[in-house]
Amino acid sequence: MALLTATSNKYIISSRATNENTLPFSSLTQIKIPRLGPPFWPWEKVKMGPLTVSPMGFGTWAWGNQLLWGYQEAMDDDLQATFNLAVENGINLFDTADSYGTGRLNGQSEKLLGKFLQEFKGQSRVRDDIVIATKFAPYPWRLTSGQFVKACKASLDRMEIEQIGIGQLHWSTANYAPLQEIALWDGLVAMYEKGLVRAVGVSNYGPKQLVKIHKYLNSRGVPLCSAQVQFSLLSIGRDQMEIKEICDSLDIRLISYSPLGLGMLTGKYTLSNLPNGLRGLLFRQILPGLEPLLRSLREIAKRRGKTIPQVAINWCICKGTVPIPGGKTVKQVKENLGALGWRLSSDELLQLEHAAQESPSKMIQNVFQTP
Ligand SMILES: NC(=O)c1ccc[n+]([C@@H]2O[C@H](COP(=O)([O-])OP(=O)(O)OC[C@H]3O[C@@H](n4cnc5c(N)ncnc54)[C@H](OP(=O)(O)O)[C@@H]3O)[C@@H](O)[C@H]2O)c1
Repeated sequence: MALLTATSNKYIISSRATNENTLPFSSLTQIKIPRLGPPFWPWEKVKMGPLTVSPMGFGTWAWGNQLLWGYQEAMDDDLQATFNLAVENGINLFDTADSYGTGRLNGQSEKLLGKFLQEFKGQSRVRDDIVIATKFAPYPWRLTSGQFVKACKASLDRMEIEQIGIGQLHWSTANYAPLQEIALWDGLVAMYEKGLVRAVGVSNYGPKQLVKIHKYLNSRGVPLCSAQVQFSLLSIGRDQMEIKEICDSLDIRLISYSPLGLGMLTGKYTLSNLPNGLRGLLFRQILPGLEPLLRSLREIAKRRGKTIPQVAINWCICKGTVPIPGGKTVKQVKENLGALGWRLSSDELLQLEHAAQESPSKMIQNVFQTP
C-alpha cells in the first residue's frame, strides 16, 4: 500500500509503511510535496482546558537569566528571531514566569515576550492565537489573594497584554508555609473570576497536592487546566508517573519542563565540554552516569534520521505531555521543531526508558516539588 509520511519539513508519498506515522494514500509514485503549514498535523494540537495549543511549547527561563543561562541584553535580537520562527511554525504556547530574570533584570522574560508579541509582523490571527502561560511566585510577602491578583496585574503590565492564557502557581508552599497556600489558591480563583487569566494551572505540584488543589478549585467552580513538572528521560520517577496518571484521570494537561535536562539530553555536553557556571557543576555530577541513555538516544536518532534533542523531545510528546524546551538560537529552535510531525514507535519508547533506567544518574528534583 502507498503511504503519506510526515517528515520534519515535507510530506513524502512512498510505497511502504515504515512506522505508525504513516497514512494510507493511493499513489504508488514517490514524490515530495513541500510542507506548507506547521510541522505537525492539525489533529496533533492539544486541548488544555479551554485552550488549544501546539503539541510542543517554548520555555523562556533563559531570557533574562544571567546566573544559570548567561543571558546578555545583546542576545535579544536572536531571541526575537527564535520567537518569530517558533510562531511562524505553529508554536503557540510560551511559558514564562514573573520571577524569570536575575537581579535588575527581574521580569525580563515577561517583558521580552510582550515586546516580541507586539512587534510580531505575521498575521494578527496567528498572534491572537498565542497562549502565554506565566507563573506567579508564592513569595513570602504574597500572603493574601489580593496580593496574588496584584502580581497578575503586574505581569499583564510587563507584557502589555490584557489577558494571560494560563496563570500558574509557580510552586506550592505546602512544604514550608502551609497556611499561605490557601490564600494563593484563592488568588488563582480571583484572577480567573476577574477574567485576568483564561485558565489556571500549577507547577511543581506532587501527586497529593495536585489532587487537593484540583478538588479545591473545583469546589470554587474553577477548572485546573495544566500541571507543569520536570518530566524528561532524565526525570521519570514514580512521582512523575503518578502525576501523569492523576492528570489523565482529572483532565489536566501535563506540561513537561526541562525536557532536554537543561541541555544534557542534547548530547553536546561531555566532561571535557561543560557549560559555564552552575550548570557545569551539575553536569559534572550527572553526565558520567548517562552513557546508556545517551547511547540509546544517539542510536535511535541515527536510525531515524533525527537528532538527539528531537528524539528526547519526541519522547515527551509520545508520553502524552506537552514539552516546553528552551532554545536560545535560531539553529536550536529550528532543530527542536523537527521533534514534531512524527512519533517514536512503542519499541523505541521502551528502549529509551530501559536505557534511562540503566543509567545510574538522574536529574535533581526541584526543591519546591511537593509530595
Ligand atoms: N516550573 C518550573 O519550576 C520550571 C523549572 C525549569 C524550567 N521551566 C520551564 O521549562 C522550560 C524549558 O526547560 P529548561 O530551559 O530548564 O531546559 P531544557 O529545555 O531542558 O534545555 C534548554 C537548553 O538546552 C540547550 N538546547 C536547547 N535546544 C538545543 C538544541 N537543539 N541543540 C543544542 N542545545 C540545545 C540550550 O542551552 P545551551 O545552548 O546553553 O546548552 C537551551 O537553553 C524553561 O525555559 C521554563 O519555561 C519551568
